[in-house]
Amino acid sequence: MTGSGLDLHLDLSADSGGVGRALELALREAVRSGRLAAGARLPGSRSLAADLGMSRGTVVQVYAQLTAEGWLVGTPGSGTRVADLPPCFPADEPSRRDPHSPVPGRRQDATGGLDLRPGRPDLSAFPRTAWASSVRRAVSAADPAAFGYGDPGGLAELRTVVAEYVSRTRGVRADAGSVVITAGFSAGLALLARTFRRLGAARMAIEDPCLQRHRELVRAAGLRVDPLLVDADGADPSALGDGGAALLTPAHQHPRGVVLAPRRRTAFVEWARRNDGYLIEDDYDGEFRYDRQPVGAIQALAPDRVVFGGTTGKALAPGMRIGWLVVPPALREPLLDSIEETSSAVPAVNQLALADLIARGDYDRHIRRIRLVYRRRRTELARRLATVTPTPLEGVSAGLHALLPVASPEHERNLVTAGERAGLRLQGLHVSGYWHAPAGRPAALILGYATPPPHAWRASLDLLTGLIRANG
Ligand SMILES: Cc1ncc(COP(=O)(O)O)c(C=O)c1O
Repeated sequence: MTGSGLDLHLDLSADSGGVGRALELALREAVRSGRLAAGARLPGSRSLAADLGMSRGTVVQVYAQLTAEGWLVGTPGSGTRVADLPPCFPADEPSRRDPHSPVPGRRQDATGGLDLRPGRPDLSAFPRTAWASSVRRAVSAADPAAFGYGDPGGLAELRTVVAEYVSRTRGVRADAGSVVITAGFSAGLALLARTFRRLGAARMAIEDPCLQRHRELVRAAGLRVDPLLVDADGADPSALGDGGAALLTPAHQHPRGVVLAPRRRTAFVEWARRNDGYLIEDDYDGEFRYDRQPVGAIQALAPDRVVFGGTTGKALAPGMRIGWLVVPPALREPLLDSIEETSSAVPAVNQLALADLIARGDYDRHIRRIRLVYRRRRTELARRLATVTPTPLEGVSAGLHALLPVASPEHERNLVTAGERAGLRLQGLHVSGYWHAPAGRPAALILGYATPPPHAWRASLDLLTGLIRANG
């Protein structure tokens, strides 16, 4: 439509509430997304109504509504224009909720472009058919009691299969009574931090580097964060204080990709025993080891001192928001109190469906399938990078990401910025806030090779290798 010389390209098709409502939604979306820029002049109500085949009164009403809401301004003598929105309007708001938060100013779920950020599986591989069948079956078969408030720690159906699953796949010592279902690992961590604080702890030791979001969650619960530097043997326990808890990624350190050395595993357990402390074992990608059997869980060494945490965020999708904690008996009740205080139990239908998916073997089948894909991708990534840089990938052959060391923080930033300009999203140790105190720390790209859907994988590799070639 061109009533004012402005081509609005409004999509009015998706609405069921009448043409006026459809126009209102379409205009709001066009302003919110920036397609209609601040100051842009809208067509007069008469010509827009004629273009769209609706009454002039409807257009006048919609303009009045959007003007009242602040999206548009009516200027006497020069018609209706797009308002100059304050910068906090949603379209450009950086995502504060993405645990792998990208370059500031970028929304996490913006579509289009290529993406090698870590922490995500290929979302296009989500097993839709199996999940839909599990939801249908689970809802049909559920006991009515499952739809009540129930146990804040999760439904027995899911706790039972999770206990069996983590025992079988990760060597965890668990039964249904020790499992607590959470909305992903990060939610579990926030609940644990809150629980430890209430039990009198003042601090939590956390790997350095680590996910910035985890440091923030722990601080938000009122605990001090003590960094534990990570070297080739994993987190160094020598900086541990005399109490509290320690958060570790032993099977595949995030983000450096190293495995916690056996003597350090023992040292952490001994520390917890001696100091009445707890270890939190974040097993975020424990199902994905490509060169050998994954290292078993530390939890089996000391089920009374270690909380084991797992998630469906890598095996299925982060949007599932389901994870689990296997907790020592002494922590179970305090943790359930935290869940009730924060009203953060996980929806029943999702729990029932996941229980069905795991019990039928579909969860394992899906993991076996994608594990193969990700293993091939890792090999291909290493091979392609070897053609443009002598620096090998850091870390063991596991998980959904690999570290590519680069010369300096400045080099890292240049690569991330050049990627952004070329349409490839990247993250780095410095740029993405992984270091507790970044001064003097090494720089690296953290390459999430699982993230692209199959059709975008080769193009992502081409762009990455091109960037590295061009940026030294
Ligand atoms: C180190 C680490 N732990 C845990 C998780 C999983 O968090 P969640 O289950 O909340 O998505 C991630 C996901 O990216 C991660 O990178």
